[in-house]
Amino acid sequence: MPLFWKSPQGTDTVDFDALPRHVAIIMDGNGRWAKQRGLPRTAGHAAGAETFRTIATYAKEIGLDYLTVYAFSTENWKRPANEVEAIMGLLKKYLLEAIDQMERDRVKMAFFGDLTPLTPELRELCQRTREISTHYEGCQVNICLNYGGRDEITRAARSLAAECVREGRDPDTITEEDISNRLFSAGVPDPDLIIRPSGEIRTSNFLLWQSAYSEYYFTDVLWPDFTKEELLKAISAYQKRSRRFGGV
Ligand code: FPP
Repeated sequence: MPLFWKSPQGTDTVDFDALPRHVAIIMDGNGRWAKQRGLPRTAGHAAGAETFRTIATYAKEIGLDYLTVYAFSTENWKRPANEVEAIMGLLKKYLLEAIDQMERDRVKMAFFGDLTPLTPELRELCQRTREISTHYEGCQVNICLNYGGRDEITRAARSLAAECVREGRDPDTITEEDISNRLFSAGVPDPDLIIRPSGEIRTSNFLLWQSAYSEYYFTDVLWPDFTKEELLKAISAYQKRSRRFGGV
């Protein structure tokens, strides 16, 4: 791996010794990508799943520690049944392939979200990929499935409230760390960089707690058109920022 990347135009540069540890991506724009081509929305998701494969492999290759992607939100159930089914089908296909190639790719996989409403088959595939890959080192890929930031924080609040009732714990002793430790992302450092393609400039309930000091990068490129170079451009922008975490 070269230690430095420069874009063909020379405007963007990446220092591979100073990468963000954790990059998170809202994989947006699949529907519009398909519409532009006169294809059904599901074709956009299929293309988006391919982009995810490329970017996940590349994340490991360049040495990111964590890549988190928003695959299905708690609100996405409102979509037409055929679209929900298509996304679940793509996930199943991806997980089956991932299990097949796990020894070769050695990517550690985790899932953020409440998996209970998924089919037993999909739940079992998630559990298997997580278990098989648990000892792999290098990049960890977190797939957010039936994930919502508000839902995640609500669950943490419920769990702490139950502890106070059950064990007589004083609510005044509850710390930020107590909440972090009850999120789906417990043990994973907060994202340094959050990327949202497709021109939408909002967070859409993604990693609400964890993004307190994340750097955001927005681009008009639609997710199926997102390339390794686009990822490097986002990292280049990140490396030009000055992160102060509320200090000076
Ligand atoms: C948002 O684009 C995308 C989704 C809600 C689904 C993302 C799913 C995949 C990329 C495929 C499965 C994932 C894996 C990990 C294999 P949109 O449909 O809202 O696009 P639009 O805003 O242009 O309509």
